[in-house]
Amino acid sequence: MKKIAILASGSGSNAEAIMKWAKASGLAEVVCVLSDKREARVLERAFNHNVPGLYVRKKKLESREEYDQKLIVRLADFNPDWIVLAGYMKLLTPKFLHVFRESGVRVINIHPSLLPLFPGLDGYGDAYRAGVKESGCTIHYVDEGMDTGEIIAQKTFPLIPGETLEEFKARGLLIENAFYPEILEKLLTQLL
Ligand code: GAR
Repeated sequence: MKKIAILASGSGSNAEAIMKWAKASGLAEVVCVLSDKREARVLERAFNHNVPGLYVRKKKLESREEYDQKLIVRLADFNPDWIVLAGYMKLLTPKFLHVFRESGVRVINIHPSLLPLFPGLDGYGDAYRAGVKESGCTIHYVDEGMDTGEIIAQKTFPLIPGETLEEFKARGLLIENAFYPEILEKLLTQLL
């Protein structure tokens, strides 16, 4: 069974969807959830699923490289096959990606836009404000850039005329929660 480590910074609805899918499908085990935010709700969700949830603190003067080195050490304990970013809001350093790439670990992310459109911190917000008629979400391999890695799969959905940004985001998130496990299942069973 493949081992999945999740990195997340926020609410963790995607992390929760993945933990549920892993248990139900028997295809994977979520071995840990790491968060850079002490108060992140994702840690509570991990606890509720009996998955180790670890807060990895970023000290003020610590460089990105030093912080990622701590992540590398923590993750190594769990020996993951896949590192799945689910609302993790920091860029990973080249060293982090190199270390895991060398040992055959794959690192993927979900982003709330149809990349290469609207990379960055607020994909749904940027698409909404740009007045697009349709948007979506993208699952991609993570590289050194910001949301620039090879695209694995995308889901497109229209904006509903008159809906607020909050409604659009909530709808998008629900779509992500179904899409991420669906694509993980395909990746793990080599259908993608
Ligand atoms: C999701 O919309 C995810 O696509 C986005 O953060 C949200 C996390 O929600 N990720 C990014 O913007 C990464 N650049 P969640 O914590 O409920 O899974």
